[in-house]
Amino acid sequence: MSQDYTRRRDLFVDAHFADPDASLHSLICDGRSIGLLPPEGEAVHESAPSLEECLEKGAALAQERLGSHALRLLELAPEWLADRRGDLSTLLWLAKHQEGESLSVGAFVFGLAHRLLKQGQSRETAGLMRFLCSTDFDFGQLYAEPGLAYGFFRPREPNPFVWKILQHVNDRALRFPDLELDSIKVLELGCGIGNDALGFLGHDRVAGYVGTDLSPEALSLLGQRAAPVREQRPTLSLETRAGDFSSFLSDLAGRQGHGIGLVYSYSSLHYFSSEELREIFHRVKLLLEPGLGLFAFGIKGEGSIWDGQGVPLYRPDVWINCDGQSRWFPSRDAIVALTDRMGFELRLHEWYEHWGYSEDGEKDLFHYVICSPRR
Ligand SMILES: C[S@@+](CC[C@H](N)C(=O)[O-])C[C@H]1O[C@@H](n2cnc3c(N)ncnc32)[C@H](O)[C@@H]1O
Repeated sequence: MSQDYTRRRDLFVDAHFADPDASLHSLICDGRSIGLLPPEGEAVHESAPSLEECLEKGAALAQERLGSHALRLLELAPEWLADRRGDLSTLLWLAKHQEGESLSVGAFVFGLAHRLLKQGQSRETAGLMRFLCSTDFDFGQLYAEPGLAYGFFRPREPNPFVWKILQHVNDRALRFPDLELDSIKVLELGCGIGNDALGFLGHDRVAGYVGTDLSPEALSLLGQRAAPVREQRPTLSLETRAGDFSSFLSDLAGRQGHGIGLVYSYSSLHYFSSEELREIFHRVKLLLEPGLGLFAFGIKGEGSIWDGQGVPLYRPDVWINCDGQSRWFPSRDAIVALTDRMGFELRLHEWYEHWGYSEDGEKDLFHYVICSPRR
């Protein structure tokens, strides 16, 4: 199940809806009735109505189905979300308490979207609708649409983080010769086209690499780009795996002799809900040898591009960005607390400004983190 689906479902759990799946289902049905989504089983048609046209119908649905308290809440919602530190989860919670289980989720949500649009927030509204109504966020499609993919398909140099990690691995091998840490096998979560993989693959301390990503197109590009390195280093093992990395982690943890000594991820962890993230950390912990295995990740943080853009899902740090994906922008304290709570010892934390990663000429702020499962 895609992480956006889980986050969307969590929103209804968090807002105390008794049957979140039923709420989501009725939302999708209403989305179809106002023309925002095609009829079940059909693809989006070229002559599909515009967002404005659909949301006019959404506004009518709100007038027809909502009581006066919920309508009043909708009037205040745009200002509350934009200027008064409100968030979508609390808004739904309030609406649910106003109207009880009979609240029409579709009427409320589309009524809200209509008001946001009327106030000129067209990108935010489109992002909100995509997050709430498109049933699966398709990373494959993202790769197929270069305009949307923020350069995921654009080759770049490996991140400096890769060199820092390799230096850590090298220093450790030299300092503790008895532990026989001469070489390492890397598992990368969400490796994309292998921009960072190429850094690992070319290094003498790396004996093997496994790259996982949802997008087979990206993995096939990684394979092509890695071909010259494989010729130079014939003993190097290289594997790619298309699919959900969280499931792959749990498959791997049950296997003897997988040999993974370093789990690496760059910019692929912020999409997950807190519960999913806990599960990912738990699975990584099961995979790695306590005290020795390394979990190294780069994750966008507080103050990065897109932090505070779109619609706030949970204040202060989870946003539905204008592309319709939800992202967590943690502070340093939040990262330290998470690693500690999940039983990892922090070995390195640094902030890194990554210019032009998400958008040309703009600044991403990444946490660089290296940690190990506590002994
Ligand atoms: C922002 S891109 C980063 C790609 C690469 N790490 C880089 O920095 O160039 C996020 C990547 O994570 C992948 N991804 C997201 N969720 C995933 C999941 N559940 N399982 C596997 N890959 C996933 C996407 O397909 C995408 O390639």
